[in-house]
Amino acid sequence: MRKLTNMESVVIYYGKDIVTSKNIDVEKKYIQHADVSVFEHCFGVACLSVYISKKLNLNVNKRALIRGALLHDYFLYDWHVKDENHNLHGFRHAKIALNNAERDFLLNPIEKDIIQRHMFPLNIKLPKYKESIIVCAADKICTLWEMLTYIRI
Ligand SMILES: [Fe+2]
Ligand SMILES: [Fe+2]
Repeated sequence: MRKLTNMESVVIYYGKDIVTSKNIDVEKKYIQHADVSVFEHCFGVACLSVYISKKLNLNVNKRALIRGALLHDYFLYDWHVKDENHNLHGFRHAKIALNNAERDFLLNPIEKDIIQRHMFPLNIKLPKYKESIIVCAADKICTLWEMLTYIRI
């Protein structure tokens, strides 16, 4: 097994109960973009969020930043499968992820905002905290990277 990077270790330190929880196995099974699972995507967004906050020297609530990023796509279904409950996935999944995360974990207001508003500007409500803005940006960067890597541009 390869050695964890510093960022991966920090993410696991603050999010251990999340990354080892039962429903995370569901995330590992489902694809998010290209050949990347929902879990890999969320883990990558958490790592990049830590990296961005460090590079920009921002004073953030690191625990909330990481936990919100890990749970931002906690919708727990395969959005590629055609089903009326999966309609308008892009618009609806942030709210679904928040409901699931509130059911399974104790969340603070920053973590809730990160999950609920990560789809800005598709969901028009502006992220309220700097942690939410960082995760919102990291999510877009990771998504683009996952897709470009897949088509090998
Ligand atoms: Fe999302
Ligand atoms: Fe995402």
